[in-house]
Amino acid sequence: MDKDFLWWRDGVIYQIYPRSFKDGNNDGIGDLAGITQKLDYLVDLGIDAIWLSPIYLSPDFDFGYDVADYQRIDPKFGTMDDFENLLQNAHSRGIRLIMDLVLNHTSNQHLWFQQSSSSKDNPYRDWYIWRDKSKSGGVPNNWQSRFGGSGWEWDEKTQQYYFHLFFKEQPDLNWNNPKVHSAILEMIEFWLQKGVDGFRLDVFNAYFKSQRFENNPVKLGLAGFDRYQHLYDINQPEMLSFLSKLRILLNSYPESYSAGETFETSTQMVASYISENSLHATFDFSFMKNRFKADGFYKSIQNWESLLQDKKWPNYVLNNHDVPRSATRYIRGEKDDRLKILAAMLLTLRGTPFVYYGEEIGMRDIPVTRKSDVKDPVGKHYWPFYKGRDGCRSPMQWEETQYGGFSDVEPWMPVHENFVFRNVKSQLENPDSLLNTYRKLIEIRKNTIALQKGMYLPLTFEPKRLLAYMRKTSDHEVVVALNFSNRRVGFVVSFSILNQNWSLLYSNKRDQKPKIIDRKITLEPNEILLLEHRL
Ligand code: NOJ
Repeated sequence: MDKDFLWWRDGVIYQIYPRSFKDGNNDGIGDLAGITQKLDYLVDLGIDAIWLSPIYLSPDFDFGYDVADYQRIDPKFGTMDDFENLLQNAHSRGIRLIMDLVLNHTSNQHLWFQQSSSSKDNPYRDWYIWRDKSKSGGVPNNWQSRFGGSGWEWDEKTQQYYFHLFFKEQPDLNWNNPKVHSAILEMIEFWLQKGVDGFRLDVFNAYFKSQRFENNPVKLGLAGFDRYQHLYDINQPEMLSFLSKLRILLNSYPESYSAGETFETSTQMVASYISENSLHATFDFSFMKNRFKADGFYKSIQNWESLLQDKKWPNYVLNNHDVPRSATRYIRGEKDDRLKILAAMLLTLRGTPFVYYGEEIGMRDIPVTRKSDVKDPVGKHYWPFYKGRDGCRSPMQWEETQYGGFSDVEPWMPVHENFVFRNVKSQLENPDSLLNTYRKLIEIRKNTIALQKGMYLPLTFEPKRLLAYMRKTSDHEVVVALNFSNRRVGFVVSFSILNQNWSLLYSNKRDQKPKIIDRKITLEPNEILLLEHRL
């Protein structure tokens, strides 16, 4: 193991959606005690850190992404003691803990908003974004809610509008008020003092809005939120000064980490927020929007690498709680060959891999067929055009017993019916399972410094079926070749590769190193091939 191991750079991060990971008290909802019970599973998988989706007090209008108190644990997840117990048990196993910070908005049930909306002269009034009617008597400007309709909600009591980028139950904080900064930084320090290792920042580039409240210019042809160029409601320059204050605070807690979820913006902007004075990392979601083709991923990697260069550290993500699972996006049926290729790509690129719970066993989205069953308010709102995000939030499939071993009682969200054969227990027993592929590749990454820290050099320049690259340090080279197709594919190797003495580091299709014939290695359908060579 590398002596210079930095957990968030060299390790693997695992996202847990706490409602759906493991129910420790059998009320049908996952909780902190459940996560603690499963820590040894995560150690065995080989991950280095957990990112917990929100566990704070919340009325659950947006399932925790509407916080009513940033310093209390919601009773459905347990108590502060349960949280401290989880943290201590994670740390004693070498697992770090990342909390989710939802700071663009609070719940409308947060004390700050209750105060703010109680009267125009309440001291908390300017903690949120309040505006008078426009001159013509309507909304103050054309800013929209991402979840549908105008972003402005009329408050009868105080006769002003307030702004909400998401639902009206999620009023946006006024980040142009320095008191908001101090309160938030104090709250972050509360968690740092408890020993939390880092934070994921929900839609951070939307915190600040232009104080002149200009209308956003209209784009032709699209509808709703996408019909506007978001010049004035996201990516305001004031953001950087807050990020630098946050970074100063984080730097005073060694090895603490921040990863920003960027909202509706270009990869170039996403990259620009990573620096020594702002965030450690941001997510490039264009990566997971690719189809299952080597060339799309190749272009995303090239773009991300060229924007970050060797000064900034990338990360990669294929799944999260907002999008259909990769298994559902890329596969019909139950075969996992494609998922193995994706796992190998995720775990051998230069950058921190993020794994979403259940990805390692190839969980599929649950089907959402009836409006009355939908839990996600976004799905209810847009039904039947968009069915929401329930599909990717179903309970973790631990074993073949009732409810997949998630709970003894009926869970808050149905378990996918494939749990009888697709579950952790059965995959642990099968050497060729997806879970064992993840375990093996994570172990290889952990023991191979070139895969953790090495530079990325593309080896295929117009890949259609084959994605190939090298990861290289001064004394070690690893070649990664991934056959995205279900046919055999020839990988033409360069002279520099040809002349080295390579050994087989991993393949899912062979146990001897491949022969090079006429400068070509033939890869089996959906083969993962890792070759290594010491200089
Ligand atoms: C992004 C989160 O990932 C999503 O789940 C949530 O609905 C919105 N932000 C609003 O907080």
